[in-house]
Amino acid sequence: MSGASGTPYAAAVLRGLLDAGESVDLVVSRASRLTLLDETGISFRDGHWQDDLRTWLARGADGKPGTFDGLDLTDVRHWGAGDLAAGPSSGSYPAKGMLIVPASTACVAGVALGLSKDLLQRAASVTLKERRPLVVTVREAPLDGQILRHLVTLDDAGAAVVPASPAFYAGATHIQDLVDFVAGRVLDAAGVPHGLYRRWQGELGGGCRAT
Ligand SMILES: Cc1cc2nc3c(=O)[nH]c(=O)nc-3n(C[C@H](O)[C@H](O)[C@H](O)COP(=O)(O)O)c2cc1C
Repeated sequence: MSGASGTPYAAAVLRGLLDAGESVDLVVSRASRLTLLDETGISFRDGHWQDDLRTWLARGADGKPGTFDGLDLTDVRHWGAGDLAAGPSSGSYPAKGMLIVPASTACVAGVALGLSKDLLQRAASVTLKERRPLVVTVREAPLDGQILRHLVTLDDAGAAVVPASPAFYAGATHIQDLVDFVAGRVLDAAGVPHGLYRRWQGELGGGCRAT
């Protein structure tokens, strides 16, 4: 997670990964802690990260506690964003791929330029050099030429740019539906099965159907 707005997207992707039986190496940038605090009121503390993660992931996008209770966090490891000696900073670490959700434009620039200024950027560079899937969920508006050029660089390098851009054709009635649509497209790009949104079936198929 980097420090763009959109922490509900990250929560939905994390829940989706855990539902799919994936293990997760979680990296929360310093700026992302600020957006998490701003958007949820939760301070993400190194010493209590499991408690804070459980509280956060149980909330719906509307902030209601207890919406997603009972998540098993056994398969989540947390690495400090400043820990450049952490497992995911090496290509030999057995990662399947990496999802940056949400991705700040600063993070996009850092990865496009190969800066590796923190574990998040280093792990992303490693993911690209190892030719593993990298999904970048950028959130900013408007996008200027510099940001767009960085996104093209990431696309050229093999990353999937999946912007935080919810669609309204899938029958959304709540904020969570819009969040889950974006999270579902992120998981689609990573090849992770999920049932987060209704897929378009074409006009003859009656539009969108639950899958
Ligand atoms: C409350 C808040 C919301 C922010 N929202 C965005 C955003 O939507 N997109 C973005 O690119 N940066 C946003 N920023 C700015 C980034 O946090 C900032 O560029 C930071 O340096 C990113 O660092 P990181 O990529 O290491 O997480 C926001 C900052 C704060 C405090």
